[in-house]
Amino acid sequence: GFEWFTYMRANSPVVYDQQLNIWHVFRYDDVYQVITDHHTFSSADVPNFSQNNFLKDTIVAQDPPDHRRLRQLTNQAFTRRAIISMTESIRQLTQELLDQLIPLGTMDIVSDLAFPLTCNLIAAMLEIPIQDRRLVYRWVKGVDSNTPLLSREDVIKSHNRMGQELYDYIAHILEKRRREPCEGFISALSTAMSNNAGLSDDELLKFCVLLLVAGQETVQNLITNAIYCFTKYPQSRDHLLQQPEHMPEAIEEILRYLPPFWVTVRRTTVDAVVGGKSIPANMIINAWNASANHDGQYFADPEHFDIRRDAKRHLSFGHGIHFCLGAPLARMEANIILPMLCKQLKNFRRIPDRSPDITAGPLHQILSLPIMFEA
Ligand code: HEM
Repeated sequence: GFEWFTYMRANSPVVYDQQLNIWHVFRYDDVYQVITDHHTFSSADVPNFSQNNFLKDTIVAQDPPDHRRLRQLTNQAFTRRAIISMTESIRQLTQELLDQLIPLGTMDIVSDLAFPLTCNLIAAMLEIPIQDRRLVYRWVKGVDSNTPLLSREDVIKSHNRMGQELYDYIAHILEKRRREPCEGFISALSTAMSNNAGLSDDELLKFCVLLLVAGQETVQNLITNAIYCFTKYPQSRDHLLQQPEHMPEAIEEILRYLPPFWVTVRRTTVDAVVGGKSIPANMIINAWNASANHDGQYFADPEHFDIRRDAKRHLSFGHGIHFCLGAPLARMEANIILPMLCKQLKNFRRIPDRSPDITAGPLHQILSLPIMFEA
């Protein structure tokens, strides 16, 4: 991935892909322009979202004025207070898994930890009772963008089927929360909705489906990528054990160096100029956040992983009106989980002869990362 990005930034920073009939954008300034200028570069009717019944009308797939209205309402649920109220659940759910795994001395960080943990976190956030947590594993697998061996149509069908199941289930939770509200996100959202009468039942339900898609796999990748970086650069982990106050900067560098989410898709509403190239109206553009994060114009020695650099300008959470709504939550989750892993999985390292399994191609994701540690 990154060698291709380096090559493209230098040689074809804005390029038309004839085979797929889409444009690619690689430099920081150009990616920034595409994700920030929402008048010229629309989020509505882009592939992925528009084929999924449950994502096509959600906040990520909308332009103003609908986007503004939804964002204002959902902001009311993502308050500091609601996020802080998650602190204890994050710690508890992490410890629960660690207690089971530590005696084993070895684990796959993806399937044993990052996947179940982030499913449980989303379940907690959606106020799904403990006995139903396994349902979330199912839904997440069903909406997973990397489901293997399926045709594009099968994937879309499976997404929509899982979406329907989740949709019915959340409808039931919401119904219950209306009768007995509590402190969590769903209750806050449901209150925002009844106060404003601005969010329809259907919009609220679809927003919950989106949270599951947007908030699980991304955080799973962040935790996995962090452990990957720490096994590759163990001195950075040892530094953080000595100086835990540097963890927030380290998380920004992990987000920059290996973003959980590599590409943002937009559609041109009018003829546009990006990086000096003319792009006609109604074209799909892949804006490569991952490439922007390695642009030497913005990050000196970009292929070097350095937890002490100022990485905060990375574009891993996007930018502009669609800037990740869950960024403060994701940062807080990582800030709680990673110190617990570094401390309790003593001297964790890769297992010789068992290399990580990383998806090939541009949508980089670590599917498996076996590690060993002192039990
Ligand atoms: C939007 C990345 C975690 C909810 C976005 C966007 C990116 C992103 C790049 C912008 C998409 C675009 O411009 O089209 C990430 C990363 C995460 C993360 C890297 C973890 C490290 C979360 C979490 C939640 C969440 C935990 C919620 C539980 C959302 C929502 C949007 C969004 C609702 C849409 C915002 C809008 O359109 O206004 N995220 N995300 N994300 N994210 Fe995240």
